[in-house]
Amino acid sequence: MARIVRFHCHGGPEVLRIEEVEVSPPGPGEVRIRVKALGLNRAEASMRNGTYIETPALPSGLGLEAAGIVEALGEGVDGFATGDAVSIIPPRSIARWPAYGELITVPVELVVKHPPSLGFEAAAATWMQYLTAYGALVDTARLGRNDFVVVTAASSSVGLAAIQIAKKLGAIPVAVTRTSSKKAALLDAGAADVVASQEEDLEARLKEIAPQGVRVVFDAVGGPIFRPLAAAMSRGGILIEYGGLSPEPTPFPLFDVLAKTLTLRGYLVHEITGDAARLEAAKRFILDGLASGALRPVIARTFPFDKIVEAHRFLESGEQFGKIVVTV
Ligand SMILES: NC(=O)c1ccc[n+]([C@@H]2O[C@H](COP(=O)([O-])OP(=O)(O)OC[C@H]3O[C@@H](n4cnc5c(N)ncnc54)[C@H](OP(=O)(O)O)[C@@H]3O)[C@@H](O)[C@H]2O)c1
Repeated sequence: MARIVRFHCHGGPEVLRIEEVEVSPPGPGEVRIRVKALGLNRAEASMRNGTYIETPALPSGLGLEAAGIVEALGEGVDGFATGDAVSIIPPRSIARWPAYGELITVPVELVVKHPPSLGFEAAAATWMQYLTAYGALVDTARLGRNDFVVVTAASSSVGLAAIQIAKKLGAIPVAVTRTSSKKAALLDAGAADVVASQEEDLEARLKEIAPQGVRVVFDAVGGPIFRPLAAAMSRGGILIEYGGLSPEPTPFPLFDVLAKTLTLRGYLVHEITGDAARLEAAKRFILDGLASGALRPVIARTFPFDKIVEAHRFLESGEQFGKIVVTV
């Protein structure tokens, strides 16, 4: 038996319940992990409230990120042994491979031996944020030295990962955050400049920071900031849209797109996690960054497993700076 988090109906954080369930042994090609820490993601709040790209059958489990110790191996699994410290690459389906539990079972191709010095909490806060930012900035936008890159929702885990990756590449990360309350922390985290989108003229400030235009925009927000973001971009620039945090409609910036031949591109981390070769390259980049210290997961707050409802409330508060972690 193991305790896992499930929800029986869609709704707010209060629909999450911890339930005792029977756990079957790992099947062929699967690994069972005794979880030590979980990383929380906005996608999980969306699936819980019924607005995610995946619609689960109810009751459903939840969760995309975990780190722990290998407890059992299914038939045909090589390269791992019981007792290994591991973390998981976010699965394509949350409902099929939910991570919020004391014991989880995942396909071996999603299991990574992270450097033990990282610790379980940081390991559970690693793969979603760095894979998402890597896939957009390195694999897609080919971000390079001295490129300006604008990162919105900059204090999110993915936003901070993008700032660290941009710095590792020698690019110039400009953070966009809603208010000035997180400005100092974003500068400390490596942003070359910070714009508070609800308090400043976003277009004017970005044009002042990058007079030649911003080549890459990495946006999780959409809504009204879309127009000033496009207006500040350089000819041939690329805007990668990877979230929809704004509840407001997103205007299409027709004349900027036309006049500057901009690329507006939707992006999902599944593009990387679903392609073995690209995933291997991403893992090498991230493990190298963790080893050198260029990449360092920022943990906003840690909650115990029993406080999963409070952890989800904090996730949705928008007050965090970095990743929310739950210890099991
Ligand atoms: N496409 C993909 O494959 C993929 C993968 C992973 C994550 N994502 C997306 O990436 C985004 C970040 O995810 P996360 O889990 O790292 O962090 P998160 O907890 O969703 O992000 C929190 C941050 O988002 C900003 N924010 C919150 N509410 C907002 C609102 N109403 N309008 C504008 N900004 C708001 C705030 O940043 P400031 O206070 O700095 O403004 C807040 O600190 C989410 O939208 C998520 O869905 C997409």
